[in-house]
Amino acid sequence: MHFFTAASTAAAVVTFASSAIACGPGQSGHDLPNRRNLGMMHKKRAASTPTEESEGQIKSAKGQCTYYNVPEVAAIIPNYPTIWQTATIPSNDTTAQNLFNTIKKSIPSGISPKGTRAGDFTSVHYDSSDPDCWWTFGEAGQKCDVPKHDGLPADITICDEPSTWGLTFDDGPNCSHNAFYDYLLEKKQKATMFYIGSNVLDWPLQAQRGLVDGHHICSHTFSHPYMTALTDDQVFAELYYSSKAIKDVMGITVDCWRPPYGDIDDRVRAIATGLGLKSILWSADTTDWQVEPEGNKPRSAIENNYATIIANVSKTIGNIVLTHEINGDTMDIAMEQYPNISKAFNNVVPLTACMNWTNPYAEDITYPVFKDYVKGNIEPSGVPSPSAISISNAAYSPMNGGGSSAVEAAGSPTSASESNAAQAASSGSSSSGSSGAAGLAVPAFAFIGAVVMGGAAVLA
Ligand SMILES: *[C@@H]1O[C@H](CO)[C@@H](O)[C@H](O)[C@H]1NC(C)=O
Ligand SMILES: *[C@@H]1O[C@H](CO)[C@@H](O)[C@H](O)[C@H]1NC(C)=O
Ligand SMILES: *[C@@H]1O[C@H](CO)[C@@H](O)[C@H](O)[C@H]1NC(C)=O
Ligand SMILES: *[C@@H]1O[C@H](CO)[C@@H](O)[C@H](O)[C@H]1NC(C)=O
Ligand SMILES: *[C@@H]1O[C@H](CO)[C@@H](O)[C@H](O)[C@H]1NC(C)=O
Repeated sequence: MHFFTAASTAAAVVTFASSAIACGPGQSGHDLPNRRNLGMMHKKRAASTPTEESEGQIKSAKGQCTYYNVPEVAAIIPNYPTIWQTATIPSNDTTAQNLFNTIKKSIPSGISPKGTRAGDFTSVHYDSSDPDCWWTFGEAGQKCDVPKHDGLPADITICDEPSTWGLTFDDGPNCSHNAFYDYLLEKKQKATMFYIGSNVLDWPLQAQRGLVDGHHICSHTFSHPYMTALTDDQVFAELYYSSKAIKDVMGITVDCWRPPYGDIDDRVRAIATGLGLKSILWSADTTDWQVEPEGNKPRSAIENNYATIIANVSKTIGNIVLTHEINGDTMDIAMEQYPNISKAFNNVVPLTACMNWTNPYAEDITYPVFKDYVKGNIEPSGVPSPSAISISNAAYSPMNGGGSSAVEAAGSPTSASESNAAQAASSGSSSSGSSGAAGLAVPAFAFIGAVVMGGAAVLA
């Protein structure tokens, strides 16, 4: 039995405190003062109700981040837990409660919550054999992404195509993202966007723009906590209400999510699987969120990180690269770096393309497979037009049968890879081979030193 040493845990606490400042919704994050309680927000009526299109045309950051009133959002807010706080199931939400009761049966027993919501793992005593496949525990190069419990798919960590940059952005929608999204349109570039449910409810028209522009949408939880710290019902609620917010506001049922800070273990994986969500990590980290003034790293340090990833083109495999929509600076750097990225890599693609995920939602929207995307057929079909996208209290029900698939998985122990293939197949895509990623994904971490337990920070 191995316990964290006092020194390494103390370092971890310091680290986590600083990462909470960079991106700690619900904590004392720098961006929290910019967010308001929705109840207040929706009292302030704009002269006329803005739309996805009108909001998308505002140029100034200040204008974009001025709160607006969308009555349909005010109407659905009472169905949600409080935004930017750890989600729990409201006592009268029997639909959610029933689904949780179904999923419960497939949660492995014996895995306790670890540490705190803000990532303080000081008091965690954990066996060094890593019985829960706890990603956060692993040193760089040894992060566990193939579950140790039966019936759970492996995490997705790489883009399995040569010379390929998997383009992913976390923490959106950011209120002031128009220049960045305009840039992506101009460059004919799609990305995978991991949206935080609370941001979707705060900035619904910005969220709609992500879909309307043809990006691929996944969830990034409701309030951005360290997920392994939460109880089973909180983990469920963080995933459920984020997916529900995306369904209500954008009309789509997502089948993928990324754990904030990469913090996932087999208990969290089981609940995500029960909700029809594939768990997506990364193989290269720009640590762009650390950029000054929001973070404490000079811009040159982030540019160096990009340069390292850009220099490391592989003829046999691709990366899933972690970048952020968290603030104007991370978006600026992404735009600044894009020409060099697309010069160095043959392909810069959203995950739908590198994984051949044609139908990532329950709804009838079809994304191009890799070979079509790289030929220039980048547009998904079936995406709602700006005038057709609407907000309503939709009946959210998870992809892939939700709870029932989890129960099946629990009832018939399959290997992680079989289960992964089955899940990919049932969502209309071919088997990815990502389950074999353990040995491939990890070396890309070498340059970042982002080992949480070693004292450096990681943020997703
Ligand atoms: C729960 O109760 C609140 C407050 O009365 C109500 O606004 C909301 O719609 C209810 N939620 C559900 C799912 O019935
Ligand atoms: C978005 O970016 C702006 C500009 O950097 C920043 O002020 C704001 O806090 C960010 N967050 C959200 C949720 O929009
Ligand atoms: C792009 O790459 C060139 C050549 O390596 C380098 O000189 C330049 O600084 C890079 N641009 C940015 C914005 O980093
Ligand atoms: C995507 O499809 C191409 C064939 O067009 C295939 O070569 C590739 O292996 C597929 N990728 C995945 C991840 O399934
Ligand atoms: C370079 O990229 C490859 C493939 O994505 C990866 O396996 C390797 O670990 C990376 N090396 C570094 C130093 O990032």
